[in-house]
Amino acid sequence: MGAPEHRKVLLGVSGGIAAYKSCEVVRRLRDAGADVRVVLTQNAERFVTAMTFQALSGQPVLRGLWDAEADMGMGHLELARWADAILIAPASADTLAKLAHGFADDLLSTLCLAATAPLAVAPAMNHRMWLHPATQANVATLRARGAAILGPANGPLAEGESGPGRMLEPQQLVQALMAPGGTHVA
Ligand SMILES: Cc1cc2nc3c(=O)[nH]c(=O)nc-3n(C[C@H](O)[C@H](O)[C@H](O)COP(=O)(O)O)c2cc1C
Repeated sequence: MGAPEHRKVLLGVSGGIAAYKSCEVVRRLRDAGADVRVVLTQNAERFVTAMTFQALSGQPVLRGLWDAEADMGMGHLELARWADAILIAPASADTLAKLAHGFADDLLSTLCLAATAPLAVAPAMNHRMWLHPATQANVATLRARGAAILGPANGPLAEGESGPGRMLEPQQLVQALMAPGGTHVA
């Protein structure tokens, strides 16, 4: 992996309420000297727009496997090769399940299968979803495979409940990702 200030970071954003915080993640990654490319899942686009991430990253945002226009630029395999770190924030329960089981039915999951770069995920969800044995098993699988699991934090959640499930703050994610030697926060 290159020097932290030159790291090429692929930021995957999945469909959770914390997706709005990922805009700040892009800003902070760029402040830390990273080149950032953003991939949104289709469900992420229900919470945030590609245009916002395009403006913040200064790069086109890839949204789908079958996006012909994007594939004329940097296609999914090239993007997988380009990245020297992958951060998925927020990582929804659904996306964690896909990654744990090796699904490749959308752009983000396909990229993750095709990439050899280290993977970091920042889970964010309702505390019951987080504590469900299925989610815990998926996270254990990813951790055993070498992925860095960043968070979640304990605290107030979007629906007025409280518990483990809050996405870590953008600055915490960026510090963990850009730490010399890679991500070590569990
Ligand atoms: C208002 C709303 C908020 C949601 N927030 C979350 C969330 O914070 N975390 C999560 O894992 N799923 C959340 N979901 C469910 C996901 O959007 C859903 O599981 C979706 O399939 C995730 O798709 P993706 O992982 O491909 O982006 C939410 C759904 C809705 C309607």
